[in-house]
Amino acid sequence: MSQRKTYIFGNWKLHKKFNEISLFFKHFNYLIKKDKRINKNPNLIHGFAPSHLGILPAINFAKGKTNILAQDVGCNNIGAFTGQVAFWQLNEFKINYAIVGHSETRKYLGNSDENVNKTVKVLLNNNIIPVICIGESLETYKSKQTNAFLAQQIKTIFKDISLDLIQKCIIAYEPLWAIGSGKTPTLDEIQQIARFIRQSFKFFDDKQSNIDENVHILYGGSANVKNASDLMSLNDIDGLLVGGASLDPTAFVSILKQSKAYKNFNGNK
Ligand code: PGA
Repeated sequence: MSQRKTYIFGNWKLHKKFNEISLFFKHFNYLIKKDKRINKNPNLIHGFAPSHLGILPAINFAKGKTNILAQDVGCNNIGAFTGQVAFWQLNEFKINYAIVGHSETRKYLGNSDENVNKTVKVLLNNNIIPVICIGESLETYKSKQTNAFLAQQIKTIFKDISLDLIQKCIIAYEPLWAIGSGKTPTLDEIQQIARFIRQSFKFFDDKQSNIDENVHILYGGSANVKNASDLMSLNDIDGLLVGGASLDPTAFVSILKQSKAYKNFNGNK
């Protein structure tokens, strides 16, 4: 049985000025200060992805176990790539995770599964764990093509990536129609889709090394204080990618506390 951890990441998108980042962490640091279940819990990993210009202030204000993530990163190295951010810049600031392939980068910046594949390879080769977003449109969902669509995304995104590296990835299942809409698939649907995503990894697993059980799968799309506990009780969901609800420190802490990793922590050291 695989020992998967819980990851809860906040995606701040294009929000928060410098002063707001400072205030957020004052409040957030205070709320979690004495909480061993968050600060000393090896199974509960949390962090926030500010927009690129917010990364440095966030690193400065965040304390202890709080990770700072990039919301996106390019697949190019150094050179004539105006407007891009590269893996080595994330390495310089010890950023260990980057969101890749978020649907808003697909919609507004022309990102594609092929490009996500290139980026994931670059990140994995440079010690950054990609949090890879996949998810279907409302049309695909309504026509019951979700599984076929996700299987194709997974085939393209993980093409020519070794089994060892695939196991390090975090997948965020984010139905496009659930993002920012207040709607989510039913819990049964999410569980079934997460199981299907897991099983899709068997496609790459010619050595039968159980990568399907080792890959981490998060849910994202209108996750909030009210539904977090139910979402995180699902067998194949290993945490959440939270947009709107991560902008508020109290809401985010409440979500952390609803995870199984938080509730089950028994270290008294
Ligand atoms: P939301 O966003 O929680 O505001 O729906 C999630 C996301 O886009 O990652």
